[in-house]
Amino acid sequence: MMPVSIAIDGPAGAGKSTVARMVAKRLNWMYVDTGAMYRAIAFLCARSGVDPEDAQEVEAILQQHEIEFEEGSDGGLRVFVDGSDVTDHLRDPDVSSLVSAVAAHGAVRDRLTEWQRAFAKRYSVVMDGRDIGTVVLPNAAVKVFLTAQPEERARRRQSEFLQQGFHVPLDEIVQSVIERDRRDSEREIAPLRQAEDAVRIDSTNKTVEQIVDQILQLVAAHVR
Ligand code: CDP
Repeated sequence: MMPVSIAIDGPAGAGKSTVARMVAKRLNWMYVDTGAMYRAIAFLCARSGVDPEDAQEVEAILQQHEIEFEEGSDGGLRVFVDGSDVTDHLRDPDVSSLVSAVAAHGAVRDRLTEWQRAFAKRYSVVMDGRDIGTVVLPNAAVKVFLTAQPEERARRRQSEFLQQGFHVPLDEIVQSVIERDRRDSEREIAPLRQAEDAVRIDSTNKTVEQIVDQILQLVAAHVR
């Protein structure tokens, strides 16, 4: 059977990764977290003290280091940099603050888009990100644009941070989430936007289960 793809895009903290991972699990497909790929490069910039705005420096980083992705036992993507597993550092605040600048460079996007398409060619995937339905997989069988109100998205991020053991004030998170959305939406290459043929789902007052069920219904209706 030809591999099938589901694209889930949306702003920061809308719940894409939780939902995408569960949909993938229910279908027994691969979950591809493209945000983790961009974060891997931002992590490298943070560690090497590279200016994330400097296209040449960022491109050099891409060439100097080996980045690999593997499916982890929890169904998520494990990210390796020069052979060591950096997955647990990808959501650190210093990585989050650099990632949008890193993701704006064409060279970075070209490289990652190529990797993402290679996954989708080999495996049936649930892929989440910003430009999956619009640029990476325009022929995805199902496209979802998942949103939620900014305060709700910030609250979710805050409880993730709390689980990791640090308290970040809510208004600080609201600001950083809004700032990242602005950068992601206003960039020239592959900006965050809803594909014309995507189904918009607002997760603000919905449970994860409800959203997963809604997406599985779309899959049942559109795949074969
Ligand atoms: O989980 P969260 O929504 O906070 O972010 P993420 O999915 O891990 O993505 C982190 C950042 O990577 C985004 O803010 C974008 O700048 C960038 N990104 C992108 O440009 N294109 C994608 N397909 C995925 C992520």
